[in-house]
Amino acid sequence: MTLKNTKSNSSLYSSTCLNLLLIVLIFLIVPAGAVDLDALNNSCINCHENVTVKKPSENFQRWSDSIHSSYFVTCDACHGGNPDVTTESEAHSTMKNVTDPKSPIYFKNIPETCGKCHSTELDHFKNTMHFERLRAEASAPSCATCHKPHSFKVLKASELLPLCSVCHNVRDMPSSANVPNDAKIALEMADELQNEIMALSNSLSDAKAKGMDVSSAQKDLDKATFVIKDVPSLWHSFNLKAFDIQIQSGIDSARKGQNKLSEVEPTAPSVPGFGIVMVLGLFATLYIIRKI
Ligand code: HEC
Ligand code: HEC
Ligand code: HEC
Ligand code: HEC
Ligand code: HEC
Repeated sequence: MTLKNTKSNSSLYSSTCLNLLLIVLIFLIVPAGAVDLDALNNSCINCHENVTVKKPSENFQRWSDSIHSSYFVTCDACHGGNPDVTTESEAHSTMKNVTDPKSPIYFKNIPETCGKCHSTELDHFKNTMHFERLRAEASAPSCATCHKPHSFKVLKASELLPLCSVCHNVRDMPSSANVPNDAKIALEMADELQNEIMALSNSLSDAKAKGMDVSSAQKDLDKATFVIKDVPSLWHSFNLKAFDIQIQSGIDSARKGQNKLSEVEPTAPSVPGFGIVMVLGLFATLYIIRKI
């Protein structure tokens, strides 16, 4: 993930650096969850906080509850306009209407706009039929179809069915009518992988605390973690078969690690205990013999 500077004018570079420094400082000072947006000095935010017109005000609210506000991804990052001037007309003057093909949030341009920061997702999305269709100005899901403005949440498996079946259904696209269900299963598998990884990682810490050799199980955990880290890239290529194969390999690694740990568990910790019992037993026997 890279946060690219959206201003191209190089004379703004030093002020941008200062702003970045300020953002980092705010981030360090303000405790998580309590973001002081006023300190940002961004006119879009300062004014929109108090705008009461229905749609902008609802969008502001959703945005301020979203992860983007915690990371100071302000309105201008997606809408354009000038956040350094205070009047509405000046701030809006370079902002294009959403129906203008030059607007960064015109439906066809949305992937590139999000991709300024989410380059991994964009790179993979670019190789999909969905992207091709958007290029051709046809109806297809873009980033904002699945990550609704302005909450921009990550979808859960259960939320996929209604979304995908708007297009992928028996009537409109019979050849890929199975896509919604396959996609749901794919994300459920990803959740399962996440659970397997947590379970293995817990067992591993326990085993480590008992002084067991966990290096082999650790390798399995690393493999599974590598797969889960790649999920966003895998997902945004919309190749559900490849996705399933990768996720299954992650689940297999995690389970292999679990099995290795449960195999050594019963014997390993009893080894020193067994020695002590032997020695104590020996002393007890000697003691009894001497008593007789
Ligand atoms: C001084 C106040 C003020 C500032 C500064 C301001 N806005 Fe607005 N903005 C408004 C108001 C008021 C509306 C509602 C206009 C209406 O619908 O009558 C609005 C509407 C909008 C809309 C809805 C589309 C439209 O044109 O109606 C967008 C998008 C928007 N603003 C983005 C921005 C961005 C991005 C910035 C910063 C670059 C910004 N605004 C700065 C007051 C402001
Ligand atoms: C991460 C990107 C992003 C950020 C940040 C963002 N928006 Fe948006 N916004 C969008 C997208 C994409 C759409 C178009 C949605 C669509 O096509 O349905 C949109 C649409 C809108 C609309 C309705 C369309 C219009 O222009 O009338 C308003 C109003 C709006 N945004 C206001 C805001 C305000 C106010 C902020 C800051 C508090 C903000 N947005 C921050 C991406 C963003
Ligand atoms: C200026 C940079 C920037 C832009 C532009 C941007 N984002 Fe983000 N986005 C971030 C940052 C920073 C985070 C939080 C850190 C992370 O998850 O990588 C984030 C997080 C997210 C998340 C994860 C939310 C979660 O709950 O984990 C989603 C989904 C997302 N963005 C979607 C979008 C979409 C869709 C667009 C375009 C409409 C967009 N972003 C535009 C910077 C940006
Ligand atoms: C057809 C629906 C769909 C489209 C289109 C889509 N996404 Fe996603 N996106 C998802 C789903 C589902 C997830 C959750 C995957 C998972 O379980 O991690 C996700 C996850 C994400 C995340 C969070 C990844 C993380 O690290 O947790 C980001 C950021 C994101 N998408 C950005 C984008 C961007 C940018 C685009 C456009 C280039 C885009 N998405 C297009 C459905 C979509
Ligand atoms: C706005 C309509 C629309 C929505 C919503 C939509 N798709 Fe698609 N999708 C398409 C179109 C059009 C194609 C191209 C199919 C073709 O030309 O055969 C496609 C192709 C695909 C393909 C490739 C199919 C193949 O045969 O290889 C996959 C996978 C896919 N979509 C997954 C999804 C998922 C998952 C969702 C929901 C998160 C989704 N789509 C939502 C329109 C949509």
